[in-house]
Amino acid sequence: MTITLQAENITDKADITQLIDTCFGTDRKTRTVYQFRDGIDAYEKLCMTAKDENGNLVGSLRFWPVTLPNGETIPLFGPLAVQPDLQGQGLGRRLIQAGHDQVKAAGYPAMLIIGRPDYYKPFGYSEDVISNLQLPGPVAPLTFMGLEFKEGYLSKLSGQITAAR
Ligand SMILES: CC(C)(COP(=O)(O)OP(=O)(O)OC[C@H]1O[C@@H](n2cnc3c(N)ncnc32)[C@H](O)[C@@H]1OP(=O)(O)O)[C@@H](O)C(=O)NCCC(=O)NCCS
Repeated sequence: MTITLQAENITDKADITQLIDTCFGTDRKTRTVYQFRDGIDAYEKLCMTAKDENGNLVGSLRFWPVTLPNGETIPLFGPLAVQPDLQGQGLGRRLIQAGHDQVKAAGYPAMLIIGRPDYYKPFGYSEDVISNLQLPGPVAPLTFMGLEFKEGYLSKLSGQITAAR
Protein backbone atom coordinates (compact mmCIF):
# COMPACT_ATOMS: atom_id res chain seq x y z
CA MET A 1 0.00 0.00 0.00
CA THR A 2 1.32 3.44 -0.92
CA ILE A 3 0.74 6.05 1.73
CA THR A 4 1.41 9.70 1.07
CA LEU A 5 1.76 12.56 3.52
CA GLN A 6 -0.26 15.64 2.67
CA ALA A 7 -1.16 18.97 4.21
CA GLU A 8 -4.36 18.79 6.27
CA ASN A 9 -7.41 20.02 4.43
CA ILE A 10 -10.65 21.43 5.84
CA THR A 11 -12.52 18.45 4.34
CA ASP A 12 -10.36 16.03 6.41
CA LYS A 13 -11.65 17.27 9.75
CA ALA A 14 -14.49 14.77 10.34
CA ASP A 15 -12.26 11.79 9.43
CA ILE A 16 -9.49 13.11 11.70
CA THR A 17 -11.89 13.43 14.64
CA GLN A 18 -13.04 9.85 14.07
CA LEU A 19 -9.45 8.53 13.88
CA ILE A 20 -8.44 10.41 17.03
CA ASP A 21 -11.54 9.11 18.86
CA THR A 22 -10.56 5.57 17.82
CA CYS A 23 -6.95 5.98 18.99
CA PHE A 24 -7.46 8.04 22.17
CA GLY A 25 -11.08 7.42 23.20
CA THR A 26 -13.95 9.86 23.32
CA ASP A 27 -13.12 10.88 26.93
CA ARG A 28 -9.83 12.42 25.73
CA LYS A 29 -11.17 15.98 26.09
CA THR A 30 -11.01 15.75 29.88
CA ARG A 31 -7.20 15.64 29.69
CA THR A 32 -5.08 18.67 30.63
CA VAL A 33 -3.76 18.96 27.07
CA TYR A 34 -7.26 19.93 25.87
CA GLN A 35 -6.96 23.16 27.89
CA PHE A 36 -4.59 24.17 25.06
CA ARG A 37 -6.89 22.94 22.28
CA ASP A 38 -10.51 23.64 23.23
CA GLY A 39 -11.82 26.67 21.35
CA ILE A 40 -8.41 27.34 19.78
CA ASP A 41 -7.52 26.73 16.14
CA ALA A 42 -4.74 24.27 15.35
CA TYR A 43 -1.65 25.48 13.47
CA GLU A 44 -3.31 24.68 10.16
CA LYS A 45 -0.14 25.16 8.09
CA LEU A 46 1.71 22.56 10.17
CA CYS A 47 -1.01 19.89 10.43
CA MET A 48 -0.59 16.90 8.18
CA THR A 49 -2.41 13.78 7.10
CA ALA A 50 -1.43 10.36 5.78
CA LYS A 51 -3.66 8.94 3.06
CA ASP A 52 -3.81 5.65 1.19
CA GLU A 53 -3.96 5.42 -2.59
CA ASN A 54 -7.77 5.77 -2.48
CA GLY A 55 -7.50 9.02 -0.58
CA ASN A 56 -8.67 7.51 2.72
CA LEU A 57 -7.24 9.01 5.89
CA VAL A 58 -4.93 6.58 7.70
CA GLY A 59 -2.90 8.95 9.88
CA SER A 60 -2.95 12.44 11.33
CA LEU A 61 -0.49 14.74 13.04
CA ARG A 62 -1.68 18.06 14.37
CA PHE A 63 -0.06 20.93 16.25
CA TRP A 64 -1.55 23.56 18.53
CA PRO A 65 -0.05 26.93 19.50
CA VAL A 66 0.86 27.43 23.16
CA THR A 67 2.25 30.53 24.83
CA LEU A 68 5.52 30.47 26.73
CA PRO A 69 6.36 32.60 29.80
CA ASN A 70 8.32 34.95 27.49
CA GLY A 71 5.11 35.66 25.52
CA GLU A 72 6.21 33.78 22.40
CA THR A 73 4.04 31.11 20.82
CA ILE A 74 5.43 27.74 19.72
CA PRO A 75 3.83 24.49 18.56
CA LEU A 76 2.61 21.80 20.94
CA PHE A 77 3.00 18.50 19.05
CA GLY A 78 -0.04 16.23 18.81
CA PRO A 79 -2.26 14.46 18.66
CA LEU A 80 -0.51 11.87 16.50
CA ALA A 81 -2.69 8.97 15.42
CA VAL A 82 -2.22 6.06 13.03
CA GLN A 83 -5.07 3.79 11.95
CA PRO A 84 -4.90 0.71 14.25
CA ASP A 85 -4.36 -1.91 11.52
CA LEU A 86 -1.42 0.09 10.13
CA GLN A 87 0.35 0.72 13.44
CA GLY A 88 3.88 -0.60 13.92
CA GLN A 89 4.82 -0.24 10.24
CA GLY A 90 6.72 3.04 10.35
CA LEU A 91 3.96 5.52 9.53
CA GLY A 92 4.14 7.22 12.94
CA ARG A 93 7.87 7.70 12.42
CA ARG A 94 7.29 9.24 8.95
CA LEU A 95 4.71 11.67 10.33
CA ILE A 96 6.94 12.67 13.26
CA GLN A 97 9.96 13.29 11.02
CA ALA A 98 7.95 15.24 8.45
CA GLY A 99 6.29 17.21 11.25
CA HIS A 100 9.65 18.12 12.78
CA ASP A 101 10.94 19.23 9.36
CA GLN A 102 7.89 21.47 8.91
CA VAL A 103 8.18 23.07 12.35
CA LYS A 104 11.89 23.68 11.81
CA ALA A 105 11.34 25.09 8.31
CA ALA A 106 8.67 27.44 9.70
CA GLY A 107 11.39 28.89 11.93
CA TYR A 108 10.16 27.88 15.39
CA PRO A 109 13.00 27.63 17.94
CA ALA A 110 11.45 24.67 19.77
CA MET A 111 8.32 22.65 20.34
CA LEU A 112 6.60 20.91 23.22
CA ILE A 113 4.89 17.57 23.65
CA ILE A 114 2.82 15.69 26.22
CA GLY A 115 3.37 12.04 25.39
CA ARG A 116 4.93 8.71 26.17
CA PRO A 117 8.64 9.10 26.89
CA ASP A 118 9.50 5.60 25.63
CA TYR A 119 8.08 6.50 22.23
CA TYR A 120 9.15 10.14 21.91
CA LYS A 121 12.58 10.35 23.57
CA PRO A 122 14.23 8.52 20.65
CA PHE A 123 12.99 11.42 18.47
CA GLY A 124 14.92 13.94 20.59
CA TYR A 125 12.34 15.04 23.17
CA SER A 126 13.65 15.60 26.68
CA GLU A 127 12.30 16.46 30.13
CA ASP A 128 15.51 18.30 31.03
CA VAL A 129 14.86 21.28 28.73
CA ILE A 130 11.42 22.00 30.25
CA SER A 131 12.29 21.41 33.91
CA ASN A 132 11.40 25.03 34.85
CA LEU A 133 8.17 25.16 32.80
CA GLN A 134 4.78 24.25 34.27
CA LEU A 135 1.53 23.00 32.76
CA PRO A 136 -1.93 24.00 34.04
CA GLY A 137 -2.70 20.46 35.31
CA PRO A 138 -1.47 16.88 35.67
CA VAL A 139 -0.61 14.79 32.59
CA ALA A 140 0.43 11.44 34.14
CA PRO A 141 0.83 8.74 32.93
CA LEU A 142 2.13 10.84 30.04
CA THR A 143 5.18 13.10 30.31
CA PHE A 144 5.75 16.75 29.43
CA MET A 145 8.84 17.15 27.21
CA GLY A 146 10.46 19.63 24.86
CA LEU A 147 12.59 19.63 21.74
CA GLU A 148 14.91 22.57 21.01
CA PHE A 149 15.87 23.50 17.46
CA LYS A 150 17.72 26.53 18.88
CA GLU A 151 19.91 25.20 21.65
CA GLY A 152 19.12 26.57 25.10
CA TYR A 153 15.88 28.26 24.01
CA LEU A 154 13.54 26.32 26.34
CA SER A 155 15.95 25.55 29.14
CA LYS A 156 16.47 29.24 29.93
CA LEU A 157 12.72 29.81 30.43
CA SER A 158 10.75 29.40 33.65
CA GLY A 159 7.06 29.76 34.42
CA GLN A 160 3.66 28.68 33.19
CA ILE A 161 2.68 27.47 29.73
CA THR A 162 -0.68 28.98 28.78
CA ALA A 163 -3.24 28.50 26.03
CA ALA A 164 -2.67 30.74 22.99
CA ARG A 165 -5.98 32.64 23.20
C1 LIG B 1 1.79 5.81 18.74
C2 LIG B 1 1.53 5.74 17.22
C3 LIG B 1 1.21 7.11 16.67
C4 LIG B 1 2.83 5.20 16.57
O1 LIG B 1 2.65 5.09 15.17
P1 LIG B 1 3.16 3.79 14.45
O2 LIG B 1 2.99 3.99 12.99
O3 LIG B 1 2.50 2.62 15.09
O4 LIG B 1 4.71 3.83 14.87
P2 LIG B 1 5.95 3.37 14.02
O5 LIG B 1 5.64 2.06 13.38
O6 LIG B 1 6.40 4.46 13.11
O7 LIG B 1 7.06 3.17 15.15
C5 LIG B 1 8.13 4.09 15.32
C6 LIG B 1 8.99 3.63 16.45
O8 LIG B 1 8.33 3.77 17.71
C7 LIG B 1 8.18 2.51 18.35
N1 LIG B 1 6.81 2.50 18.88
C8 LIG B 1 5.66 2.46 18.18
N2 LIG B 1 4.59 2.53 19.02
C9 LIG B 1 5.12 2.66 20.27
C10 LIG B 1 4.54 2.79 21.55
N3 LIG B 1 3.21 2.81 21.73
N4 LIG B 1 5.37 2.88 22.59
C11 LIG B 1 6.72 2.84 22.44
N5 LIG B 1 7.32 2.74 21.25
C12 LIG B 1 6.53 2.63 20.18
C13 LIG B 1 8.39 1.49 17.28
O9 LIG B 1 8.96 0.32 17.85
C14 LIG B 1 9.35 2.18 16.34
O10 LIG B 1 10.66 2.11 16.78
P3 LIG B 1 11.76 1.43 15.81
O11 LIG B 1 11.64 2.14 14.50
O12 LIG B 1 13.03 1.69 16.54
O13 LIG B 1 11.34 0.00 15.76
C15 LIG B 1 0.37 4.75 16.87
O14 LIG B 1 0.69 3.48 17.36
C16 LIG B 1 -0.96 5.22 17.44
O15 LIG B 1 -1.73 5.92 16.78
N6 LIG B 1 -1.29 4.79 18.67
C17 LIG B 1 -2.50 5.20 19.34
C18 LIG B 1 -2.47 6.67 19.72
C19 LIG B 1 -1.26 7.00 20.58
O16 LIG B 1 -0.95 6.28 21.54
N7 LIG B 1 -0.59 8.11 20.21
C20 LIG B 1 0.58 8.59 20.91
C21 LIG B 1 0.25 9.04 22.29
S1 LIG B 1 1.62 9.72 23.14
